[in-house]
Amino acid sequence: MTTTARPPRVDELPLVGSSLALLRDPLGFLDRISAEHGDAVEFNIPGQRIYLFNHPDAIEQMLVTERDHFIKDKLTRELSIMLGQGLLVSEGAHWRRQRRLMQPAFHRERVAAYGEVMVDVAERAAESFADGETRDVHRDMMRVTLDIVAKTLFGTDVGDVAERIGAALELLMDHFSGIGVMIPIGLPTPGNARARRAIADLDGIVRGIIRERRSGSGGGDLLSMLVAAADEDGAMSDTELRDEAMTLLLAGHETTALSLGFALDLLARHPEAAARLDAEIAGVLEGRRATAADLPRLRYAEGVVRESMRLFPPAWAIGREATSACTIGGFPVEAGTQLWAAQWVVHRDRRWFEDPLAFRPERWDADFAKSLPRQAYFPFGGGPRVCIGNAFAMMEAVLVLVTIARAFRFERTGDAPLELMASVTLRPKRGIPLRLERRRRDAGA
Ligand code: HEM
Repeated sequence: MTTTARPPRVDELPLVGSSLALLRDPLGFLDRISAEHGDAVEFNIPGQRIYLFNHPDAIEQMLVTERDHFIKDKLTRELSIMLGQGLLVSEGAHWRRQRRLMQPAFHRERVAAYGEVMVDVAERAAESFADGETRDVHRDMMRVTLDIVAKTLFGTDVGDVAERIGAALELLMDHFSGIGVMIPIGLPTPGNARARRAIADLDGIVRGIIRERRSGSGGGDLLSMLVAAADEDGAMSDTELRDEAMTLLLAGHETTALSLGFALDLLARHPEAAARLDAEIAGVLEGRRATAADLPRLRYAEGVVRESMRLFPPAWAIGREATSACTIGGFPVEAGTQLWAAQWVVHRDRRWFEDPLAFRPERWDADFAKSLPRQAYFPFGGGPRVCIGNAFAMMEAVLVLVTIARAFRFERTGDAPLELMASVTLRPKRGIPLRLERRRRDAGA
């Protein structure tokens, strides 16, 4: 039975609603309102009525069974300034066609071919690290995943262009994370001018690479597959290719770096887990480098990545906007309402995860994932719009993690808790400084 009641509403100020609390400490705000109000709660920011749903059944309705009532939320739609009509922001028939054209390039077997690039890049990074030094491993992982996405997406000839791509992406992620996103891009502010220059720079690089691929040089990379992909309406236009390439660069780079950085931090905080990972690596790899074929036996490493994304989900919340009236979690939702589902909250719910704040990679042993209600764990989203790079990212995170952990042990440099910043993604506020100790068995390798 549907009701006409609305979810309980947080106590908030007129006009500004909850915007100050949300800007000041988004994670604390979500924790607090969820603890106070339970599985459904309403809050407001200027121009937006937002319902936060914390029960997996409601999230399943939002992402799967009732999905036809929704489009992406306002904030995600802002990204189209940069991503055009790329997969992350497109809707309807255009999204369906693009997803169909791109899906084969992301099938597990296709993705396995990138394993070697992933291990190569991680090995090269490890070779550049020195015994005893303290490094910001968050920065290091950002570089590793950028190199991987650039190589797998564009082929091996990115070279110094990777630097320019990295700088432009960093500037844009900062722009879209902060106050910048609230200022219309058309206004002549210095921040907007920088963002527009960065978009133009990326645009130029990406279009140049597309021209090369069209002329037949290069191949074997994701972009070549997208250039070749076609359906009864033909192949993708240059603009469609540009939008998808920009989207994959943006969506595929920082998220995976975050999952790796948080995993290394957690391992440094939990030496017993690091020792178990060590034992698995020694048993499975027996001193050689990892390949995609080892993945089924790197179960504990996979548990480390899953547990890291449970506690520190790189995508900490997903949003949708209702375009027609529907019922979610037993509450009527009117057109125009924004719906949020927060991995940050649901992944820490003791109804689904025993001792939810504990880091326990072994909880992912056996059939735990299958025993969970759908959408109790959704680091990659769910339903038809689930992350297309899901298998790519899992493989990348596990291969990079074991390659780096084979070469080095990581130690914390003090007792400071990890400070988080919830912007578009969940980031470490002050990086992740860790001390590196080279492992003997790899010494001189
Ligand atoms: C740990 C790493 C990653 C995480 C946590 C992550 C998370 C997500 C989430 C939560 C969504 C769904 C958003 C929504 O429903 O509103 C998504 C979508 C998407 N992701 Fe990922 N992602 C990761 C890695 C990647 C990689 C490596 C790629 C590409 C190489 C990628 C490309 C995309 C694309 C294109 C979409 C849009 C899919 C669609 O709407 O059809 N992601 N990702």
